[in-house]
Amino acid sequence: MIRKYRFGKPLETDAVVDKILAEVGNPPYLNTEENKAFTYRMDSDTAIYGLGQQVRGINKRGWLYASNCEDDPVHREDRHSLYAAHNFLVVDGKELFGVFLDYPTVLEFDLGYTDKDEIRIVPKDWNLDVYIIEGKNINDIVKQFRKMIGRSYIPPKWAFGYSQSRWSYMNEDEIREVVRNHRERGIPLDNIYMDIDYMDRYIDFTLSDERFPNFPDFVREMKAQNVHLVPIIDAGVKIEEGNEVYEEGVKNGYFCKTENGENFVGAVWPGLVHFPDFLNPVARDWFGHQYKFLLDQGIEGFWNDMNEPSIFYTQGHFEEVLDTISQLKGKELVQCDKDRLCDLVKNLSNNQEDYQMFYHNFNGEGEMIRHDRVHNLFGYNMTRGAGEAFEKLEPDKRILLISRSSYIGMHRYAGIWQGDNLSWWSHILLNIKMMPSLNMCGILYTGANIGGFGSDTTEDLLMRWMEFGIFTPLMWNHACIDTRYQEPYRFNDIEGFKNIMGIRYGLLPYLYSEYMKAVLRSEMMFRPLAFDYPDDSVAAQVEDQLMLGDGLMLAPVYQQNAKGRSVYLPERMMLVTMRSMTDYDTRIVEKGYHFIPAELNEVIFFIRENHVIPMSKGGCCVADVDFCNLDLLGYVTDQAVYELYDDDGNEKDYENPDHMIVINVTAEGEIIQEGTKKVFSIFK
Ligand code: GLC
Repeated sequence: MIRKYRFGKPLETDAVVDKILAEVGNPPYLNTEENKAFTYRMDSDTAIYGLGQQVRGINKRGWLYASNCEDDPVHREDRHSLYAAHNFLVVDGKELFGVFLDYPTVLEFDLGYTDKDEIRIVPKDWNLDVYIIEGKNINDIVKQFRKMIGRSYIPPKWAFGYSQSRWSYMNEDEIREVVRNHRERGIPLDNIYMDIDYMDRYIDFTLSDERFPNFPDFVREMKAQNVHLVPIIDAGVKIEEGNEVYEEGVKNGYFCKTENGENFVGAVWPGLVHFPDFLNPVARDWFGHQYKFLLDQGIEGFWNDMNEPSIFYTQGHFEEVLDTISQLKGKELVQCDKDRLCDLVKNLSNNQEDYQMFYHNFNGEGEMIRHDRVHNLFGYNMTRGAGEAFEKLEPDKRILLISRSSYIGMHRYAGIWQGDNLSWWSHILLNIKMMPSLNMCGILYTGANIGGFGSDTTEDLLMRWMEFGIFTPLMWNHACIDTRYQEPYRFNDIEGFKNIMGIRYGLLPYLYSEYMKAVLRSEMMFRPLAFDYPDDSVAAQVEDQLMLGDGLMLAPVYQQNAKGRSVYLPERMMLVTMRSMTDYDTRIVEKGYHFIPAELNEVIFFIRENHVIPMSKGGCCVADVDFCNLDLLGYVTDQAVYELYDDDGNEKDYENPDHMIVINVTAEGEIIQEGTKKVFSIFK
């Protein structure tokens, strides 16, 4: 049951697709402090789940969070926001309810930070829609919410393959080299992401003639090796005569405006840029159609970046800072002067005041709305523009699309990557914790930069991270310029990487099936143990294990030098310790805490009793994987039933009942299946 309450005159965000009539009065559960805040008193056992892309734990209690889309590459636990605004929470204590605040700008969630027993949600103004969701358990609440916000994005099947990138592979030959190194060594690979240097001086919808002289041929050459190229698109359009996108945007008034009606100017990678007014449907549609430039050259996937929007500086602020600094010339700096100097320079980027300097023709209605009132919708609508344009330009094809910034609603058009993380062990854990929170908010196609983006990785970090990354729908190794190269073949144990990554391709039938079922049924693919074992008070506190789909429990190793880890089993399960698709052990482990050994090259996971998972023999790319002859790995004492979803991975007839097969496995190993399209055997 979902109830809606309206305060003031909220701007339409299009987050919700199943429209609900607002009720009169204040929302239940919450205490409404008119024009100020919504509050809730918690008992000591109350847990809070949600907020999608955020720092800290699965249980969000005990910190001050903000929804304020920001380009901050240092995801430390003292931060309050990352790139997204996902304003959905489930409160699980003496009462159980979900709350979604549809509010397009900065929103503060004080979840037991000021007063450890109080939730305090503070919007900047009093124009918002509040939804309260009641259900029989957490999974049910999430399902109702997800139904209300509409079906999550579905990428092509090849997008579940391994993606390799770096900022940047500088030319065709460098990419050829990366592909060759994977293929020759049998390390799986499906996609190469292309960072900003493929463009001519970072200008969107251009190609560097020097670095990529024959792009359509190069795209074809890569495709012939089953490699998809996935170029980046940035939000800012370079101001330069001759840049057609710039000229067209200026001519038609498609850019964000200042108070005086001039085109707003900021600086990003290409230098000075205008920002398309993605909140104006006409401008959004126009920008979305620019992707045709690359679609026409054979490209089938994109990543949208810098769309919070990230602004390195505005000229006015830059001049001010230079003036202030020049006044310090010849002076002796004391500590506070030095700090002020550093802050001045640091605050040039993504300065909150800059977000008050431009306006949107919001929803094309003519009324100019200042950016800071709708800040969190910008990246969402950039990506929505692309998604909507793909529906027109390529109606029969799935196009891969991920975005850095997002708001609930964007999950219908694309996935996200988890931004500029660091090569830190703690960021494997952050990656683990973010998966279920994002799933709650409809974002299923996601993963983090495996190995870490900023700072230098190590072989063991990459390997342990890969052992979790093989389970995430987006499996992407990406690194920052000037960091250590981190393609798997750069390290000693190439065989180990090849084998671990091979397990991903073995698991693909299960992972794809679980992804598709989660999308089509509005369910979560990754769940905290607390959601599936609500009566188990120990399970409720486990933050480093996840349920994955129907039958798996993950317990990744995320500590350096560890030779295993403690795992809590909420019930008896089968432990699988895999070194490769052909080299693995299984054993039954009873409910309770156990130390589970896992050498550096071993992936561990658990299969629930009376569950099976379908596996392929693997392959070097998704096209190689045989989805028809499958092995069932599992632990059946009575009977296991598995619903397998599969399709060709490109078409959009998702609801076709032929895509679903039900398989029954008896304790004796007998397999009973509906339909004859696939051949199953018991995994030996
Ligand atoms: C941003 C992106 C990162 C990319 C870089 C250069 O920091 O988040 O993924 O590599 O820009 O384009």
